[in-house]
Amino acid sequence: MAKEFRRYLVTSALPYANGPVHIGHLAGVYIPSDIYTRYLRLKGCDVISVCGSDEHGVPITIKARREGVTPQEIVDRYHELIKRSFERLGMSFDIYSRTSSPTHAVTASEFFRKLYDEGKFIERTSMQFYDEEAQTFLADRYITGTCPRCGNDRAYGDQCEKCGSTLSPDELVDPRSAVSGAVPVKRETRHWYLPLDRYEEFLREWILDGHKEWRANVYGQCKSWLDGGLQPRAVSRDLDWGIPVPVEGAEGKVLYVWFDAPIGYISATKDLTPDWEKYWKSGDTKMVHFIGKDNIVFHCIVFPAMLKAHGGYILPENVPANEFLNLEGEKISTSRNWAVWLHEYLDEFPGKEDVLRYVLCASAPEAKDNDFTWKDFQARNNNELVAVLGNFV
Ligand code: 2FM
Ligand code: ZN
Repeated sequence: MAKEFRRYLVTSALPYANGPVHIGHLAGVYIPSDIYTRYLRLKGCDVISVCGSDEHGVPITIKARREGVTPQEIVDRYHELIKRSFERLGMSFDIYSRTSSPTHAVTASEFFRKLYDEGKFIERTSMQFYDEEAQTFLADRYITGTCPRCGNDRAYGDQCEKCGSTLSPDELVDPRSAVSGAVPVKRETRHWYLPLDRYEEFLREWILDGHKEWRANVYGQCKSWLDGGLQPRAVSRDLDWGIPVPVEGAEGKVLYVWFDAPIGYISATKDLTPDWEKYWKSGDTKMVHFIGKDNIVFHCIVFPAMLKAHGGYILPENVPANEFLNLEGEKISTSRNWAVWLHEYLDEFPGKEDVLRYVLCASAPEAKDNDFTWKDFQARNNNELVAVLGNFV
């Protein structure tokens, strides 16, 4: 018999506050989560929908450096823009929070500290690239050099955008620091790791045996991660932007953005209601995470392992992840400015918010990547909304 739930907690992936939201985000995550939430509300269910900006991580610091401003200025700018755009579109979040909030700093620090105190982390030293001129460790994105596969001399330490290869900084030919241009050296650094291998059995049972009803793309990705064997994952970084690691002797280290971001769902709920524990700690709450397919491992493997390690929290009952939406046959790309940006759409088509919602819903990339074209947008508006629905009304 299907389990009965008394309340629902709907979360939507927290967008990075380093750029505006585009139609790919809407089709993949936000329109589906809004439809689900509105449906539950119409049925009279006790439901809350939480979201907010993801304001940490290296790309934000890179953007700030490029523009000669502080990371805080970047996240303030995009947090406001994204929040306002969601409001204008009619998204019905109960709260749109942010991970630079004081509540979040306390919640994420306490979460880390509990795991630390209970010996749930392991500590490891490794050799990382260091910029002696700027006196800073370099995140993979901060190292540039020549791609060993295609010869592109502007490849990053984690990826070559020309040939699409995933790289590690060690593979780059002639690596340079993107901060100062200096040749980086290797230096020893110490970090905390969540030993995911210890949670493998629990995850296998919980997902592979217990959640066969999850979407095939989500279940399949989980299975292949689990079959490949899980490794300990670093949950701290050498960076000056983020939540400081709350441990003595950890100066210059912050929580890894993918450690703090999902805890943002908890902080957002805390900011929404003093009754937050009812949603996070009662077995009769159904939690559903709406995400894009690139977030599957973090929401199905890493965050549940964190919640399990912490104890006391419920786990998601489902994690619906859509595929990607392309634009006029090409991948949506922020760096190439190939996107339909939500705020621009709202300016260009005042009063037509529901047309966009309808089109993105009708062509949602549920089971495979899908394509958005303006021709299709026009046809759906004229033939389906105006002709069919309009005439019916
Ligand atoms: O992929 C992304 O856009 C991430 N900012 C999603 C974070 S979801 C959650 F964990 F916060
Ligand atoms: Zn390349």
